[in-house]
Amino acid sequence: MCSLATKLGPIKMNNPICNASGVYSRTSTELYKMMFSHSGSFITKSSTFNPRTGNPTPSYWENNSISINSMGLPNHGYRYYTDFIEDLDKDEKHCFLSIANIDNDETGNILDYIADKDYIVYPEINVSCPNIPGKEQLAYNYNELDNFLTHVMDEKYNKPYGLKLPPFFDPVHFMFIANIINQHKNIKYLTCVNSVGNVLDVDISTNKGVIFPKNGLGGLGGDYILPVALSNVYQLKQILPNIDIIGCGGIKSGEDVYKHILVGASMVQIGTALNRDGPNIIPRILRELEDIMIEKGYETLDDFKGKYNEMQ
Ligand code: DHB
Repeated sequence: MCSLATKLGPIKMNNPICNASGVYSRTSTELYKMMFSHSGSFITKSSTFNPRTGNPTPSYWENNSISINSMGLPNHGYRYYTDFIEDLDKDEKHCFLSIANIDNDETGNILDYIADKDYIVYPEINVSCPNIPGKEQLAYNYNELDNFLTHVMDEKYNKPYGLKLPPFFDPVHFMFIANIINQHKNIKYLTCVNSVGNVLDVDISTNKGVIFPKNGLGGLGGDYILPVALSNVYQLKQILPNIDIIGCGGIKSGEDVYKHILVGASMVQIGTALNRDGPNIIPRILRELEDIMIEKGYETLDDFKGKYNEMQ
């Protein structure tokens, strides 16, 4: 018998699977589909102070292997999601609140509201949205990121939280980001990675991009980003061993979940494959993960979590 149970700080989950923010996360109908699915936890769409309608369509494109999105943060405003979480049965699985920072003052107002709400536990603060025209991905600007963590997060939210990070590509950038994270003790987990920002594909029948916003530039998800995500999970876990990692990127099978956990993830989020094929993929992925564990003689996720470098 093996157990797929996992933990993130105080949050206990029956299994490591969660949706990625943005997928099955925008309306209460979608969120209930996640709640009643076989996932171990679920997460809301990244929310902002005010509701947003998002970018002009088409803002999402997919094929059998990848997706490109520039949704532009369409969401119902943070109170829709905090009220949804407040109404959940406390014994149900955990629902993470995702908050996107597009404006420090607005995020400060959201934090003022949730600071004393016990039902919001371990919110995921998204500092990596690539899809707001004219705005940078906050985590790529180290000074601005540190300013946000110091003057917004540290001052307004005295509880544990996580950061959703964009992918990094050079060892020196991992050192920069880890140094910043080390200075903010309430950061308890990192979600690695958001989509690979500002990619482009072209529809040669029209000579246009496959999505409309930002001249076709959008965030890449799916199969191509699995190695990028694994590298980010691995490198950040090596540099920051006391911080938990949620692996996200390119997962569509039990084997992919196994790889994320092997390089250091405590749990995983699934975006592109979940959006394409729906929550019914979750029991299959869990079965596949269990089959790999049985074949290797592992009984718990801890038996192989983070063990990648020990096997070299
Ligand atoms: C959106 C995309 C992201 O990658 C993200 O982190 C937040 C929002 C979006 O376009 O809606």
